[in-house]
Amino acid sequence: MKKIWIADLKEHIGQTIQLSGWVYSTRSSGKIKFLLLRDGTGLCQCVYFRGECEEQSFNNFEQLQQECMVEISGTVRLEPRSPGGVEISAKKLSLISSSNAYPITPKEHGTDFLMNHRHLWLRSKRQVAIMRVRHEIVRAIRDFFDHRGFTLIDSPIFTPSACEGTSTLFETKYFEEKAFLSQSGQLYMEAAAAALGKVYCFGPTFRAEKSKTRRHLIEFWMVEPEVAFNDLYDNMELAEQFVEYIVQRVLKNKSEELKSLERNTSLLEKIKAPFPRLHYQEAVEIIKKENPDFVDGNDFGGTDETIVSSKFETPVFVHHYPSAIKAFYMKEDPKESGSSLSCDLLATEGYGEIIGGGQREEDLSILLQKIKEHQLREEDFAWYMDLRKYGSFPHSGFGLGVERTVGWICGLPHVRETIAFPRLYGRNYP
Ligand code: 4AD
Ligand code: MG
Repeated sequence: MKKIWIADLKEHIGQTIQLSGWVYSTRSSGKIKFLLLRDGTGLCQCVYFRGECEEQSFNNFEQLQQECMVEISGTVRLEPRSPGGVEISAKKLSLISSSNAYPITPKEHGTDFLMNHRHLWLRSKRQVAIMRVRHEIVRAIRDFFDHRGFTLIDSPIFTPSACEGTSTLFETKYFEEKAFLSQSGQLYMEAAAAALGKVYCFGPTFRAEKSKTRRHLIEFWMVEPEVAFNDLYDNMELAEQFVEYIVQRVLKNKSEELKSLERNTSLLEKIKAPFPRLHYQEAVEIIKKENPDFVDGNDFGGTDETIVSSKFETPVFVHHYPSAIKAFYMKEDPKESGSSLSCDLLATEGYGEIIGGGQREEDLSILLQKIKEHQLREEDFAWYMDLRKYGSFPHSGFGLGVERTVGWICGLPHVRETIAFPRLYGRNYP
């Protein structure tokens, strides 16, 4: 007998097949018993008629509890009212392993309880839908760059230097020396861009951020393209095409999942490039109208970002942030002293910054000056300075945070559900 997956059942109408899976739920009414089976690829209703199935199998229902692992066999038939449009006229049911008092039940559970049981919570329908959307986003990210002639370069996790400031570094031992967990692969991508022109890295990054917000993870995945000869405006163009591509891919390929997450997709359908672009000062004017306490020159807080993004139906760029609040590598606009050639992309509906990036400083002496100002150790960046000594070139890039993008596209209230095993401030379990 053929052992198949629930997702493939439609290809086996009329055939007698075998399924393995977990008990999602059971119910009975007299001579009929129903088993809703879950195998990870879908849900399937299996119907047992007393007299038409094995007597022992019928009696086995007594022992079934949520999440028992079972094997069943029966005949596949079309049934439009059942999940997946098919049903099994079942003959056999074997209990393979038991599950007593599964902790996650259909009733409401608190966040802490669910997070402590994340390894089990992951099995629930909503979490499965989120993981499938996340996978589609990851695939869209790779396809976008791969189809545009970018080369994937994996950046190291252990690094000797700070890319995004010293306040969020995870320090660890590297034999006799100390090392940090990477906050960003950017500096390495700049080296790789000089070797291969258009590159990107895609991997986990780490920030020791002692903040419990709905947007911050300690470990998150970031994709970082870097392109030789691109300026700030080329960079924004790349970023908006990229974000449009991701959103439209998910809408096309994961509509069922978005529906089960009750996402308002009509808002996502409007995500088409080009996106509006605001100078930092223009954004400040908008913010000040609703938040008079905002101090000109400061970075935006979550609520400030929401004030700005609420004015638009697509994500919006803010560019030319003050150099003083941006990283050491940001190029200052030669025509606008004190302003950097930086750009952040703010998502719609208050989801906040999903992209940060800009044009890099390519002048050796200015960069050395910046390193001093940021109180970084020059010797840690000697290799990075070489990029400015040997054929320095204009270049730009950005980083998109995968979890914030998943949260936005799925319409989730918190990033903790956007990755299978989130690392949050105060949580390193399971
Ligand atoms: O703005 P950030 O810090 O930029 C960089 O790291 C640059 N080196 C990227 C580059 O130009 N190559 O981070 C980029 C993005 C943010 O916009 C956000 O989406 C995400 O990474 N991000 C986080 N996501 C979750 N939790 C955190 N703690 C995050 N910090 C940044
Ligand atoms: Mg940023």
